[in-house]
Amino acid sequence: MDKPTRRDFLRRTGAAAIAASPVAQALGAGGTRAPQSANDKLVLGLIGCGGMGASNMRSLLEFPDVTVAALCDVDSSRIPGDYKFVKDKVGQAPDVYSDYRQMLDRKDIDAVIIGTPDHWHALNLVHACEAGKDAYCEKPISHNIREAKAMVGAQQRFGRVVQVGTWQRSSQEFVDALAYVRSGKLGKVVHCRAWISDGTRIGKVKPSDAPSSLDYNAWIGPAAMHPYQSNKVHWNWRWVMNTGGGLTTDWGVHMLDIALLGLSPDQDFKMPTSASSIGGQWAITDDDRDAPDTVDALFAFDDSPVSISWTVNRDHPGKPGHGTEFIAADGKTLRVWRGGWVILDAEGKELPKEGSDAYPTSHWRDWVDCVKMRGKPRADLASVARTTMVCHLANAALFSGATVRWDPEAMDIAGKAGRETMAYDREYRAGFKLPKYADSW
Ligand SMILES: NC(=O)c1ccc[n+]([C@@H]2O[C@H](COP(=O)([O-])OP(=O)(O)OC[C@H]3O[C@@H](n4cnc5c(N)ncnc54)[C@H](O)[C@@H]3O)[C@@H](O)[C@H]2O)c1
Repeated sequence: MDKPTRRDFLRRTGAAAIAASPVAQALGAGGTRAPQSANDKLVLGLIGCGGMGASNMRSLLEFPDVTVAALCDVDSSRIPGDYKFVKDKVGQAPDVYSDYRQMLDRKDIDAVIIGTPDHWHALNLVHACEAGKDAYCEKPISHNIREAKAMVGAQQRFGRVVQVGTWQRSSQEFVDALAYVRSGKLGKVVHCRAWISDGTRIGKVKPSDAPSSLDYNAWIGPAAMHPYQSNKVHWNWRWVMNTGGGLTTDWGVHMLDIALLGLSPDQDFKMPTSASSIGGQWAITDDDRDAPDTVDALFAFDDSPVSISWTVNRDHPGKPGHGTEFIAADGKTLRVWRGGWVILDAEGKELPKEGSDAYPTSHWRDWVDCVKMRGKPRADLASVARTTMVCHLANAALFSGATVRWDPEAMDIAGKAGRETMAYDREYRAGFKLPKYADSW
């Protein structure tokens, strides 16, 4: 394959459009700094030194034109591993913060990695945009639909480049599978199925004092204050609806993303117009988790004869524990998961497949390139906001017990059903306020 020219790159990424936007012009396309040359080092700060924040930082530090100047976490016990890693790799010790807003005040930091739990993403990201920083933000982008809209509003208002951590978009098997579906070779797709197996138990523990290393008040942040329980913080917060959205947002945002992308020619995919869902905490009842362990959600489109289903359940014998399937009118199925993809005929016999001629750069490199060229990353915030909102719609339908309607013009829930749920909106705890910009969806 020929090497793409800079013009090809700009056309592909829509960089020209971003650079020309009035806000980007007003700020200078590079935000806090003058536009960077390709050789300039991108200076990063990490917010949330947990599992995925640390992993993203390590991937980004593989690039010679990236460095890390600062780390921030509200639990000081989470920092030493990353501190040593940066010191050894970069040759200079990073500065350490417990308040991300102080880190954002630094003019020498160009961009941040947001690796906090989901209930913190919206504030972290909006404040980063206001401070003129680009961001690599973990998925799902938000804890509810209103936050997702506010995040996109801030990104657009401040002209920031934001990649979301749905890295399947840069992974060869998903790129190939999506190209095949989009080419029409599978045939007319009438149904997409996405799923994750979940049997996680977080156990039962009594409330206690938080360890001295953790500022629990800061960790809870805008969410409702609940007494500290050691099994509800690091990693496990995703099975607690006050801080996560259960597996429907945690994994739905990965696997439903592929379904939605496969039904559209580009990132700005069509939103479903309704969601209904049944399920609950049916299997794991003797546990402190309150996320549903069983979910069957169904999405429909008023103007297209295709549906999408989402399942959270126990293992599916003989099948990968997660995945996305496209089912064609004649029964042919394309199944893709982390690590592979297959095409099966209606009897389940494997058919020959063709890869695409697209060989994506890594998700993290794509972001760095887009930051430097003011481009649109593969998992641009506005695009993954759509997927995230689709996941929230499933939760809104489950918790309201109603079919929730979506108005794709207004990009909002139509009618009342679903609006009363935490998947749509919630009041922040006193002292926390999410800024909202007029040009949000
Ligand atoms: N893309 C992927 O494949 C993938 C995989 C795993 C996790 N994730 C996402 O990454 C994010 C983090 O997940 P995790 O499993 O690493 O969580 P984690 O609990 O291991 O880490 C989160 C860290 O953020 C810190 N933190 C919380 N509030 C903070 C604040 N206000 N300021 C600074 N630090 C704060 C916590 O103390 C903790 O160290 C989540 O959004 C999750 O969905 C993505």
